[in-house]
Amino acid sequence: MIQETFVMIKPDGVRRGLVGEIITRFERKSMKIVDMKMLTLSRGQAEALYEMHKGKDFFGELIDFTTSGPVVLMKIQGEEAIRNCRMIVGETIPEKRLPGSIRGDYSPYLTENIIHASSSEEDAKIECRLFFDI
Ligand code: CMP
Repeated sequence: MIQETFVMIKPDGVRRGLVGEIITRFERKSMKIVDMKMLTLSRGQAEALYEMHKGKDFFGELIDFTTSGPVVLMKIQGEEAIRNCRMIVGETIPEKRLPGSIRGDYSPYLTENIIHASSSEEDAKIECRLFFDI
């Protein structure tokens, strides 16, 4: 089934010059970038994206980091795009990250983890709508 999902290269990925490398990994897997933009998120935009984590102890640190510099926002379309993009991204928990995934190859950190991809069909719809088609 063809799906659309939302992917964000976080400020650490942009600062470290990994944008081209990251985009290549999605394209190699036949995941098509159908919309893309670069901007620095306001605190309000970051809080809306991470609303499900509001109240958790890492929320403040997450918002500070997410707004610390430009990010690259992408709408990506492809076969089972939600699952495939999450696999390309890799696990949230550092100990579980496999080499070959973006996080597995580039980040040993929990918060500064290079990239975000929507975790479900519902989240993909909400997150795409936050930044595209408006
Ligand atoms: P992401 O997949 O973008 O979703 C939420 C983000 O919160 C996560 O990546 C990490 O950058 C950050 N984070 C920090 N601490 C935690 C934690 N304990 N559990 C989950 N996410 C965390």
